[in-house]
Amino acid sequence: MSFETIFRMDGRVALVTGAGFGIGRSLAQGLAAFGAHVICADCDLPGAEETAAMIRDAGGAADAIYVDVAQTQSVDGLFGEIGRLKGRLDILINNAGVSTGPRRLHELPIEDWDRLMGINLRGVFLCARAAIPMMLEAGGGSIVNISSIAGLTGYFPGAARLCVNYAASKAGVIGLTRQAAMEYAREGIRVNAIAPGWHGGTRLGGARLAALSPEALASLEATVNSRIPMGHRGVPDDLVGLAVYLASSASSYVTGQVIAHDGGWTAE
Ligand SMILES: NC(=O)c1ccc[n+]([C@@H]2O[C@H](COP(=O)([O-])OP(=O)(O)OC[C@H]3O[C@@H](n4cnc5c(N)ncnc54)[C@H](O)[C@@H]3O)[C@@H](O)[C@H]2O)c1
Repeated sequence: MSFETIFRMDGRVALVTGAGFGIGRSLAQGLAAFGAHVICADCDLPGAEETAAMIRDAGGAADAIYVDVAQTQSVDGLFGEIGRLKGRLDILINNAGVSTGPRRLHELPIEDWDRLMGINLRGVFLCARAAIPMMLEAGGGSIVNISSIAGLTGYFPGAARLCVNYAASKAGVIGLTRQAAMEYAREGIRVNAIAPGWHGGTRLGGARLAALSPEALASLEATVNSRIPMGHRGVPDDLVGLAVYLASSASSYVTGQVIAHDGGWTAE
């Protein structure tokens, strides 16, 4: 076995949803750096185009396609386009996600529950549902679902991103991951989840954070950082190594797993 190439993805086609900014942009760039042709999909098409251009400027291969992962027709359109462009799909990173709030359960608007579930959970289901037939045709594949430590554990410091809809959607992603892993294990499709802890430099919860006073923001940062054993938040690029591992043959005997990427948060 040639160990030097186990992380390489040359000749493989990867779809990253929510690739127009934040974690999705980093993951798209990371997969491309290891040889994958990356489809950058987002409801923010200019953002997705910017990511694809960054990849091409760095010598990689990428296309940008519009998708609203909550909408069946839009997801069908995305996969139809991938079929026309590349004729195959080997890797799916289900990354698109949003947060709402801040509200406790009894104050949470029902529309916020429905909208978030549509993107964070239904979107993961719709994209996996459309990707799996292409992976079966290709003889296997890897699906990496971006969950959250909010799907593993509760936390309430008046935090700007965590509400029950977010936590429930991310726990749902974990259940979907484990069940799908069982269903396709014999056909070479691996399904794993990453549960990130707090990662800065993204737009998640951006409107809520922007509404905080500088003092309240500093206090929230300090509270969160004090909760992290490593003492600081992550950044999107930190997630690339784990995503490349799960997407590539380096993890060929790993399926149905949820790996926290959280500076030790969930180790307590
Ligand atoms: N940042 C964190 O601390 C953190 C922690 C745990 C989990 N996550 C998860 O990581 C993923 C990425 O989050 P991020 O922090 O990079 O956020 P972000 O807001 O910076 O990026 C999310 C991207 O998803 C896109 N998107 C939103 N709704 C969409 C839709 N309906 N269809 C297609 N694209 C859509 C946005 O346009 C954006 O480009 C999310 O699933 C989030 O829940 C983030």
